[in-house]
Amino acid sequence: MKTFTRTLLMMAVMMLCGCSDDNNDAMAQNTMTQKMYITIDGVSQSVTLYDNAATQALVAKLQDGAVTVTLNSSGGFEIWGPLGFSLPTSNEQITAQPGDVILYNGSNICLMYGTNSWSYTRLGKIDGLSASELETFLKAGQSNISVTLSLTPSSIPSNNNTLVVYYSYTGNCREIVQTLTSQIQADVVEIQTVAENQDYNANGYQLGQDLLDAINANPECVDSYPPIKPVLRDAENYENIIFVTPLWHSQMAAPAQTYLFINREKLAGKKFGMIVSSWSSGISTVVANANRLVPDVQWMGESLWINHNNHANRATLIENWLEDIHYEDISTIVRIISSDQKNSGEIYNLNGQRVINPSHGIYIKNGKKVIL
Ligand SMILES: Cc1cc2nc3c(=O)[nH]c(=O)nc-3n(C[C@H](O)[C@H](O)[C@H](O)COP(=O)(O)O)c2cc1C
Repeated sequence: MKTFTRTLLMMAVMMLCGCSDDNNDAMAQNTMTQKMYITIDGVSQSVTLYDNAATQALVAKLQDGAVTVTLNSSGGFEIWGPLGFSLPTSNEQITAQPGDVILYNGSNICLMYGTNSWSYTRLGKIDGLSASELETFLKAGQSNISVTLSLTPSSIPSNNNTLVVYYSYTGNCREIVQTLTSQIQADVVEIQTVAENQDYNANGYQLGQDLLDAINANPECVDSYPPIKPVLRDAENYENIIFVTPLWHSQMAAPAQTYLFINREKLAGKKFGMIVSSWSSGISTVVANANRLVPDVQWMGESLWINHNNHANRATLIENWLEDIHYEDISTIVRIISSDQKNSGEIYNLNGQRVINPSHGIYIKNGKKVIL
């Protein structure tokens, strides 16, 4: 609705004043040394703020304390919503880019993961995330996303025990992860190759084959694996890992193999589940690859295979798989609290199970009984 209204208004403005010149010169803006931080699900990302009346008022507001807003995805390019207060505007016609933090209509904040042309006031830019990392971080496509704005990075640890790790070249695994995380509480990281814009489909998928051949020729050498970028979340901090990978030439996609190879020590002992997406080939070799790469994980159960014919039915397939592997029991299982976690501030019930949203009652916090 908002997008539709904006589009109509924009067309009217352009017709009336021939105003089609976007001012995209974000780099020409002066920036503040003060950073802002956006925290979503315990992950904080820094934002470089432009120096204008709106950001000065915003910083003054955040000096009184962090502000949490609820944002919703819209138009396939942003999450946005009301700030709960107004800021001075200096609107200009711009084409907002992925990562831009924008003030819309004086009292709404838009966090962009795509592009949109409109009359906006620039607030800043999220530092250092690629377009697809932004989609993951901003929970693109989701609703009621709790977003905290603050002047220091959030120290809130993640509430999640499960990390979903995925690689996706053509988007199927990304869709699988979006469906999966609509069914379970989990943090998500995307594996991305350092080499960008690779055409793995070219010449009968030859590049993918070459990468796999290099791994198979010398699987114990890290140089055999295509380099990947550092990920936002450390597997070490999670008990459960759900790994989502495409199948390439009947094997695990090469960048997914890199992640497992370089994290094999961190993953040892973790509970590990795998979902494999292929066009039609069966996944037994991918399972064998995982067994070679991370021999010391505890498998949650059989891996889930989603192929081209049943991809559209993935919500049911995932739901059934989670039931088959007894995911609910796995994810709430009693765990031994290590000494460095004793003062973590996490809350446990009297059975030693971690509680995310405790209601009234007696709990254990930092090794002591507390009444909430
Ligand atoms: C390099 C490459 C090789 C592939 N080899 C196979 C194959 O041997 N068998 C198959 O069924 N699908 C194969 N596929 C198709 C992918 O497994 C399938 O499209 C999958 O859903 C892709 O996941 P993604 O969209 O998350 O990248 C291949 C895809 C690529 C890019």
